[in-house]
Amino acid sequence: MTTLLQLNSSIFSSGGHSSQLANEFVATWRANNPDAQIKVRDLANDPLPHLDAQRVSAFFTPPDARTPGQQVYVDESDALINESSSRKSSSSVCPCTTLAFPRR
Ligand SMILES: Cc1cc2nc3c(=O)[nH]c(=O)nc-3n(C[C@H](O)[C@H](O)[C@H](O)COP(=O)(O)O)c2cc1C
Repeated sequence: MTTLLQLNSSIFSSGGHSSQLANEFVATWRANNPDAQIKVRDLANDPLPHLDAQRVSAFFTPPDARTPGQQVYVDESDALINESSSRKSSSSVCPCTTLAFPRR
């Protein structure tokens, strides 16, 4: 099945211009792909954790040597990789705030 992953990141949630633009695009895309599955991830309301030293250390630790906490980090990362790699299309509209794009 075709899957579209929609990444929103407006601090104004669904009222943000980028969210509205993405929703318009996805509505048209959905009309052309009526059987497709759409997964929405809101990075402003549900932010991803920063890649810090503990997480990187967990990734570089062999599976049989990981602590339970390190395994949680790896499982979270694997779930995101699967979410991203299993989709066939993606829609990502990025707002600009304080001279930068969100660090997500
Ligand atoms: C706190 C804040 C900082 C902003 N900083 C910038 C900026 O540095 N450069 C810019 O072009 N627009 C800036 N803007 C304007 C945003 O790009 C504009 O509000 C845009 O609509 C945000 O996208 P959104 O509506 O999808 O959330 C800023 C807006 C806010 C609220």
